[in-house]
Amino acid sequence: MTDLDPFTDALDYPMYVVTAEAAGERAGCLVGFGSQCSMRPARFLVWLSKLNRTYRVAARADRLAVHLLRRDQDDLAQLFGGETGDRTDKFAHIPWHPGPGGAPVLDEAPAWFVGRVENRVDGGDHVGFLLAPEEVRRPADKGFRFLSLSDGLGIRPGHPVD
Ligand SMILES: Cc1cc2nc3c(=O)[nH]c(=O)nc-3n(C[C@H](O)[C@H](O)[C@H](O)COP(=O)(O)O)c2cc1C
Repeated sequence: MTDLDPFTDALDYPMYVVTAEAAGERAGCLVGFGSQCSMRPARFLVWLSKLNRTYRVAARADRLAVHLLRRDQDDLAQLFGGETGDRTDKFAHIPWHPGPGGAPVLDEAPAWFVGRVENRVDGGDHVGFLLAPEEVRRPADKGFRFLSLSDGLGIRPGHPVD
């Protein structure tokens, strides 16, 4: 099996917090695998590990919320990337509200969108969720520095990776 690390080690891509709600259950995790994948229509694909609680909730959700964080929001990055909802209620101590269709929106995120799940793609150990944006909030301050992979490298994933 050929390893991609020599290629991906050179990258510093944005990090997102992806949240979901289904039948009253909420979940969310830090996600590095994600990108816009179509302009017309606008579409965005996020990849969730089959092992994460967020995946299990997202598999039953109609919509997902995708948030950008500022670089200094390492507390939120640590909560969503370093803890698992199997053990911690990540939404208990942070401000959030239900967005369109119930997807939890983090009040402190400077930019976010809620997308309807249009398709799911099995990519191996992650499943891709193809999102059609329904509501998009742009940062008031467009100059903010968003959290990227190099900022999140110190976080040990809260859910075991294998
Ligand atoms: C730098 C970094 C990148 C990550 N990228 C992803 C990702 O793309 N997809 C994913 O499902 N989990 C990713 N994770 C792992 C989850 O954020 C982490 O395991 C989280 O604790 C899962 O929480 P949950 O079990 O409540 O869903 C990443 C973690 C870190 C630290």
